[in-house]
Amino acid sequence: MIRRAAVVGCCAAFLGAGIAVAASLPGIPKAFQPYKSWHKVNAKLIRPTSTTAHPGTKNVYASKKKVAGRYPVGTLIVKEGFTTAGGKRFVSLIATMRKQRGLDPAHGNWKFIEWTRSSPNARFTEIARDATCWGCHAQAKRTDWVYTTR
Ligand code: HEC
Repeated sequence: MIRRAAVVGCCAAFLGAGIAVAASLPGIPKAFQPYKSWHKVNAKLIRPTSTTAHPGTKNVYASKKKVAGRYPVGTLIVKEGFTTAGGKRFVSLIATMRKQRGLDPAHGNWKFIEWTRSSPNARFTEIARDATCWGCHAQAKRTDWVYTTR
């Protein structure tokens, strides 16, 4: 048992190093991890305002481009938010939308989930989903429930 724990410790440290290089985010589902290679929706970094729900400075990425003003079924959207703690700037928020055929027509067939963490190497934990998100995002209904258009 002790030996096994030591091996796990070693590999976790090794993986930790890998994570820093590959910038993968522990606790975030695999499907969302490659978001940096997707289409970036915002032209400029989104700065915090007093009215937005999601704190920090942000970027928004989409796995597919809109077709006739709507995102295709299967589109994944990630909003990454940055925080600075202890002099280190790191990704502290991942808010996601995933469009699934027939999932929930009343809410654009989007699945909403948001995760956060408070330090650079910590695992993300879910803070809220769906019903918490609909009230605000309904105001962006005309742009397929997505606020960021540029
Ligand atoms: C108080 C209003 C509010 C709530 C509640 C809210 N959002 Fe947002 N969300 C916004 C605004 C405004 C933006 C546009 C970017 C910005 O200003 O941060 C946004 C942007 C996003 C984006 C990037 C795509 C886009 O619409 O621009 C995702 C993904 C997202 N939110 C997910 C969520 C999830 C998941 C929840 C629920 C857990 C949620 N949001 C709850 C206001 C809200």
